Amino acid sequence: MKALLVDTAGERPVMVPGEHPDPVAGEKELLVAVKATAVNRADLAQKAGKYPPPEGASPLLGLEMSGVVEQTGREVTRYRPGDRVFGLLPGGGYASHCVIHEELAMPVPEAFSFEQAAAVPEAFLTAWQALTWLGEAREGERVLIHAGASGVGTAAIQLAKQRLGCAVAVTVGSVEKADLCRKLGADLAVIYKQEDFREVIAGTWGPAGIDLIIDPVGAPYWERNIDLLGMDGRLVYLAFMGGSGVDEVRLGSLLRKRLTVRGSTLRNRPLVYKIDLTKDFQAKNMDLLANGQLQPVIDSVFDWTEAEKAHQRMEQNLNAGKLVLTGF
Ligand SMILES: NC(=O)c1ccc[n+]([C@@H]2O[C@H](COP(=O)([O-])OP(=O)(O)OC[C@H]3O[C@@H](n4cnc5c(N)ncnc54)[C@H](OP(=O)(O)O)[C@@H]3O)[C@@H](O)[C@H]2O)c1
Repeated sequence: MKALLVDTAGERPVMVPGEHPDPVAGEKELLVAVKATAVNRADLAQKAGKYPPPEGASPLLGLEMSGVVEQTGREVTRYRPGDRVFGLLPGGGYASHCVIHEELAMPVPEAFSFEQAAAVPEAFLTAWQALTWLGEAREGERVLIHAGASGVGTAAIQLAKQRLGCAVAVTVGSVEKADLCRKLGADLAVIYKQEDFREVIAGTWGPAGIDLIIDPVGAPYWERNIDLLGMDGRLVYLAFMGGSGVDEVRLGSLLRKRLTVRGSTLRNRPLVYKIDLTKDFQAKNMDLLANGQLQPVIDSVFDWTEAEKAHQRMEQNLNAGKLVLTGF
């Protein structure tokens, strides 16, 4: 089958079109003809040799896809050949075919294109998990989402506003990204390169006015995050794009404000966890996706042969929302 491979011959590893053996569907799996997939930071790390796939996963990159079921394993009950599906993968989405457990697959909403569907799984499932399962967001709470215009951030803003009824503040790197976040429902967008987010948010919502923070940035924001959290506040880490080493940690606030700090991953979670998350997301949000109240934000769509260009765009922090690959 057609697949994107990592070429390590040059100065730095790059994605190149190539061939890879076809995957074979297990008894509870679907063989899917991939119509679209999307780029994640984890792909950049895997390409660089820093993020090996979990045991048993495809060695190919690609953590999400949308496509058409071509074959079903013997024990599959939910789908038939011809069905349009999308979902999370532990790897293998960067190819013309992939396999997915039937319970990780979701039916593509009728009004959705394959490009839109491929832009949903990683961003929305990660955001849903962070906001609700880990962050325990409740109606009326104030949520701060760092990297608001990222794939995960754009999903989190919408879920927090539309589904959970929270007030939302974000940090972003540019005016354009701030405008996008406001359009998606953010009440407050701070351009962190121009203003100190602690000052702006404290000035608007009070010095400890945040209930939940979703943070993929890490060390540079630690102290300001802890300052901004109020009583029983929660801080959920998804990544450390700005670094993971904090020189001095003052633990007093954790006790005084009864704070919770959590870290999480998604790819390496057990299959049963990802199935439960998929079902929970589907049950609580598919209506809003289907009627357009929740919308995946697509920065740009690239032909699969130009995947390296999409990777470069992400590496340079240029994308607002998801980068989608099609045409396999
Ligand atoms: N743990 C998990 O389960 C999980 C799952 C999915 C994704 N993630 C992680 O979540 C993060 C977001 O993923 P994504 O795919 O949504 O990312 P994305 O679309 O590539 O967006 C990332 C954005 O973060 C901002 N950023 C980058 N470096 C920064 C820094 N040092 N300080 C402040 N902002 C910075 C940039 O926007 P600005 O221009 O606004 O600075 C960049 O465009 C990634 O690190 C990803 O690995 C974690």
